[in-house]
Amino acid sequence: MSRIVYVNGEFLPEDQAKVSVFDRGFLMADGVYEVTTVIDGKLVDFDGHAARLVRSLGELDMDAPHSRDEWLAIHRELMHRNDLENGLIYLQVTRGATDRDFTWPEGLEQTVVLFTQAKNVTESPAAKRGISVISVPDQRWRRRDIKTVQLLYPSMAKMAAVRAGADDAWLVEDGFVTEGTSNNAYIVKGGRIVTRDLSHDILHGITRAAVLRYAREAQMEVVERPFTIEEAQAADEAFITSASSFVTPVVKIDGTTVGLGGPGPVAKRLREIYIDESRKAAV
Ligand code: PDD
Repeated sequence: MSRIVYVNGEFLPEDQAKVSVFDRGFLMADGVYEVTTVIDGKLVDFDGHAARLVRSLGELDMDAPHSRDEWLAIHRELMHRNDLENGLIYLQVTRGATDRDFTWPEGLEQTVVLFTQAKNVTESPAAKRGISVISVPDQRWRRRDIKTVQLLYPSMAKMAAVRAGADDAWLVEDGFVTEGTSNNAYIVKGGRIVTRDLSHDILHGITRAAVLRYAREAQMEVVERPFTIEEAQAADEAFITSASSFVTPVVKIDGTTVGLGGPGPVAKRLREIYIDESRKAAV
């Protein structure tokens, strides 16, 4: 089945959509992206993703090509044209196309692409059984707070994890976990939730912000500080969050079983709360 995708103002069948070979997104990874989840035909945390997009663009000296309301209208039209009830919407903005050079002309026309991925987001086998992760050095650039399309290192890390028989990788820098390849990382010890504090070292997850807010509202204790792989292996629970995985338990780290080896009560409860609240607040 062919999808309808959005490219620079047009809704087109995916095999007719085109982007220039000179696009700086293609040649230089000069672009940013967002992934927003759709549950029951509605967008989860839309405003958070829209705000982070503006910030990412600004950090790279790019303007936002559309207003929040225009983005919302494009997302909704794309959902409608693809009959998307559950899944993801991927959005990418690049600086645009120009002859290859390290500098770029000011005021280039940006390239805007959106497409859908149908997926049963709420019923995840990984969330039911929990995932295993391996640790690898974090070799990404130093501005991980900007959601750029430079995903080669995270892709290689996840591929290494899958080849090693695991599900994903946690990235480690100076002895501490930064985050997962495409998610934020957490541990739970004695009922206390620990996750790395916000800085340029990690992506400021939209799901992270919501989950920590719900956790605090439910009187759970949250501590934002770095933790090591050893501390995670000795924790009662571990989990990840992202738009596509919500809250997903981590049950094995570098071959060591975490807690009782299955999804723990804190991760399960946070997943339930997150999905319930997201359904209510989706637009
Ligand atoms: N990834 N950290 C990294 C490095 C990420 O790539 C992501 C999201 C997150 C979680 O952010 P959020 O909760 O806003 O989705 C953390 C998306 C889902 C992706 O690349 O597919």
